[in-house]
Amino acid sequence: MKKILCIGAGYVGGPTMAVIAKHCPELEIVCVDINEDRIRAWQSDDLPIYEPGLLDVVQQVRGKNLFFSTDIVGNIPDADLIFVSVNTPTKTFGQGAGRAADLQYWEKTARQILQYSRSDTIVVEKSTLPVRTAEAMHRILDSRSSGPKFEVLSNPEFLAEGTAIADLESPDRVLIGGPTTPAGQKAVEALAAIYRHWVPAEKILTTNVWSSEMSKLAANAFLAQRVSSINSLSALCEATDADITEVSRALGMDRRIGGRFLQAGVGFGGSCFKKDILNLVYLCEHYGLHEVGAYWQMVVEINHYQQRRFVHRMIQSMFNTLAGKRIAIFGFAFKAHTSDTRESPGIEICRELVEEHAQVVIHDPKALENAAKDLHDLPQKQLVFESDPYRAAEGAHAIALLTDWPQFQTLDYRRIFQSMVQPAFLFDGRNLLNHADLFEIGFNVYSIGKRPLSHLD
Ligand code: NAD
Ligand code: UGA
Repeated sequence: MKKILCIGAGYVGGPTMAVIAKHCPELEIVCVDINEDRIRAWQSDDLPIYEPGLLDVVQQVRGKNLFFSTDIVGNIPDADLIFVSVNTPTKTFGQGAGRAADLQYWEKTARQILQYSRSDTIVVEKSTLPVRTAEAMHRILDSRSSGPKFEVLSNPEFLAEGTAIADLESPDRVLIGGPTTPAGQKAVEALAAIYRHWVPAEKILTTNVWSSEMSKLAANAFLAQRVSSINSLSALCEATDADITEVSRALGMDRRIGGRFLQAGVGFGGSCFKKDILNLVYLCEHYGLHEVGAYWQMVVEINHYQQRRFVHRMIQSMFNTLAGKRIAIFGFAFKAHTSDTRESPGIEICRELVEEHAQVVIHDPKALENAAKDLHDLPQKQLVFESDPYRAAEGAHAIALLTDWPQFQTLDYRRIFQSMVQPAFLFDGRNLLNHADLFEIGFNVYSIGKRPLSHLD
C-alpha cells in the first residue's frame, strides 16, 4: 500500500487524513474535494474548520505526506485505497424526502472511481450510510466485466466535533466491516494494518459490512436517545421540585447506566444525530417495522419539543412578550469548541425569537460567520452579530446561553448585569453557570430542569 486518496475534505475527511498521515509517514495521502474554497483553506493556516489541535497536526504533515487538491479524477488512477467521506445529508425531494439519505454525492463518487481507476482498489465508506449501501456501491463498481477489481469496506467514523483529534488519536474502537470472501478479508487486513500504527489491535473490531453500517447508525441513535431521555425528564423536573442535575448524577452513578451524555440542555444539534435517526426510521419503515421506527422518531420529536419549550419559557417569564426586547444569545455553535452550527438549537431558537419581534444579538467565540449564513433570510434589522460578549449584553433584557463554551463561566456577570435593562433575565440553556451567584447579583435565573430563581415572585 502506497497511496491513499480521500474524497471529501470536510469535518471527517480532513482531520482523519491528517492523523493517518501523522502516524503513517510511509504513505502518501491526498485529500480531494469539489469545493475549491475549502481546499484553498486546507492549504493555508486558516483551516476551513475549527478543531482544537488540528492545525498543529496538519502543519506537521502537510506538504510531506499529506496533500490537499481539487483534482479528483487525476488522483484516482494510482490510489491503492480510497476513503469516501462526502456528505450524506437528508434527502429534501422525492421519495423518502425529509428522512432517507441523499446518496447523489456518494453515487457520483462511486461512478468516478469506476471510470478512472486503473488498478485493483480498496474503497472504504467513511461517510455514514444506510445499511446495505456498500452492497450497492459494490454493484456499481462491479458493473464492468473486465478491468480493476474493487473491494468495498465500511469503516464508519465515530469522532465528535470539538474533540476530533483526541478521538482519532485514541478511539474507543475502530470498526471495519468487510466481505467474508478471501479478497474481502485481505482488504480488511490492509485497512486494519493502517490503524495498527497507533491503535491497539484489540480496539480494532471487524464485522460483516452490514453490521458495521448498522452499528454507526445505532451508536448515534443511542447517544441522541440519552440526550432526549434526560431532556424529557427535565420538563418533568420543572413541573415538580426535582432538579435535573441531581437526577442525572443519581442515574449516572449506576454503572449500568453510566454518567456520560446525561447533560440536559436546549437539545442536541450537529450534522448527524437527526439525519442518522431519520435514516434509521426510514429503514425501519422500509422493512415494515413501524413500532421500531416510531420509537426512534420520538427521540427527534423530543429534541424539537425541548427547543420550543425553552422559547416558551422565555416568553412566559418575561411578562408574555418579547416584542422590541433585546435578547443576547451566548453561543450559537451546536456545542463548545467548534465553529460548526449545523442543526444547532440556536438556529430554531433565534428564528422563534425573531418571529416574536425580539431584537436578537448573537455572540459566539467561533461561529458568528456560520450563524450569519444560517439566519441570512431573516429580517436583518432584528439581528446583530457581536464578537464581544459584554457589548452583546449591553442594554439587553435577557441573556440566553445556548452553547457550553467554558469561557462563558468566567465572564464578569456583575458588570454584565449592570449594563442590562432591569429586571434582567438569564436563561441558561446548558446549566453551565453558577445560578446561585447570578441570582445574588440580581438576575432572574431560568435554567433547564430546575426551579427558577426569580426576584419577581
Ligand atoms: P462535510 O460536509 O463537512 O464534508 C463533506 C465534503 O465532501 C464537503 O467538503 C463536500 O464539498 C465534499 N463533496 C461532496 N461531494 C463530493 C464529490 N462528489 N467529490 C468530492 N468531494 C465532494 O461533511 P462531514 O461532516 O465531514 O461528514 C461526512 C460524512 O461523515 C457524513 O456521512 C457524516 O454523516 C459522517 N460523519 C460526520 C461526523 C462529524 O462529526 N461531522 C462524524 C462521523 C461521521
Ligand atoms: C456525535 C457523536 O458523539 C460521534 O460519535 C459521531 O461520530 C458524530 O456525532 C457523527 O456521526 O457526526 P457530535 O455531533 O460531533 O458527535 O457531538 P456530540 O458530543 O455527540 O454532541 C451532539 C449534541 O448533543 C450537541 O449539541 C451536544 O451539546 C448535545 N449533548 C451531548 C447534550 O445536549 N447533552 C449531553 O449530555 C451530550
